[in-house]
Amino acid sequence: MRLAVFASGQGTNLEAIAARLPVSLVFSDRAQARALTILESVPSRTFKPMDFTSREDYEEALAALVEEFAIDIVALAGYMRVVGRPLLQALPGRIVNIHPSLLPAFPGRDAITQAFEAKVAETGVTIHYVDEGIDTGPIIAQEKVPMQDSLAALENAIHSVEHRLYPEVLAQIMEENT
Ligand code: GRF
Repeated sequence: MRLAVFASGQGTNLEAIAARLPVSLVFSDRAQARALTILESVPSRTFKPMDFTSREDYEEALAALVEEFAIDIVALAGYMRVVGRPLLQALPGRIVNIHPSLLPAFPGRDAITQAFEAKVAETGVTIHYVDEGIDTGPIIAQEKVPMQDSLAALENAIHSVEHRLYPEVLAQIMEENT
């Protein structure tokens, strides 16, 4: 199966995924994203909704891109946009996201800060299939992370679970579908 990773930012999950699995395409909606510079030997593309006349056209361009690269599965790794219908229809049930909370708790942005400020005893990591909502869609895997003394410590604890769990889950999905 050919895997694409979509990332808007740092790309630490992309790094963890690429250490375990072949990545066929990296896409970012931010031309400055560090994620675009990580894998020198993998094709990367960047464009953003503002480059198009409508959001629909941006989504159509994404659907065309995954078709051009014969992508079978897309892993969102810090991709900070809602996925629209054209891409969902291009890869039905084949788009996966990672979110740093135990969904349905703390969806949306700054989920780690939200959990820290709420002083919950535990938070965690969720990997789920993507639908048209924000951090909704069927859950594939979750792992708990206990609350830490500082936000930085909680972020570290969550990211280290992410970097182990995401490649594991993607490898399993890809194995089941080959
Ligand atoms: C991760 O915490 C992920 O769960 C969230 O965005 C962050 C991306 O980090 N969706 P990185 O770009 O992979 O370093």
